[in-house]
Amino acid sequence: MTLADLIFSPQGTAELDLKSFDCGRKSVNKFFREEALDYQDELFGKTYYWVHRDRPTEVVAGFTVANASIFTKRLPNARQKKIGREVHHDKGLINYPSILLAQLGVDLKYKGSHLGQQIIDFVMQWFTSPDNKSGCRHLIVDAYDEPHLLEFYQRNGSFRLLS
Ligand SMILES: CC(C)(COP(=O)(O)OP(=O)(O)OC[C@H]1O[C@@H](n2cnc3c(N)ncnc32)[C@H](O)[C@@H]1OP(=O)(O)O)[C@@H](O)C(=O)NCCC(=O)NCCS
Repeated sequence: MTLADLIFSPQGTAELDLKSFDCGRKSVNKFFREEALDYQDELFGKTYYWVHRDRPTEVVAGFTVANASIFTKRLPNARQKKIGREVHHDKGLINYPSILLAQLGVDLKYKGSHLGQQIIDFVMQWFTSPDNKSGCRHLIVDAYDEPHLLEFYQRNGSFRLLS
């Protein structure tokens, strides 16, 4: 299965059965079920889902993104120097414009389809495309400190550990 087999459904645009969504992590399930609407209403970040084409209330996967920035001084020295060479104005040197992938979940029924990896590719493409709204040089993920998860993120999308 690929994302193209599913329907993209920004939160709030359709009635969804989030009670049946289970990605295997309680905190992520709870966020999508109980917190994501307020998070969005309060302008902290936006949530997007993919739903099943034949059963449009069934959520297959979801993610939440929020604006963020990396304080340049927190980056390793070599990276700071690289940015110095890339950036041609002072403003860009203090904070590096980024997007935080605040939540990500794929329903357990669809594990093994590499949807997680496809979503990371989608988000990266989305925020670096010419019609992106604010500019973004990095995708940040605040991942649980679990070896398999860190490996997943480092394998998909060239994430690097900051601390
Ligand atoms: C993390 C998550 C989004 C990954 O989505 P996915 O569609 O299952 O992942 P993919 O199929 O794209 O994974 C790519 C590879 O990483 C591996 N992988 C992904 N998540 C893994 C996990 N939790 N444990 C071990 N391996 C994992 C997959 O086995 C796959 O390996 P392969 O290429 O050798 O087959 C999904 O497992 C999930 O919803 N987990 C619960 C919620 C969560 O922890 N979110 C992240 C919060 S930081």
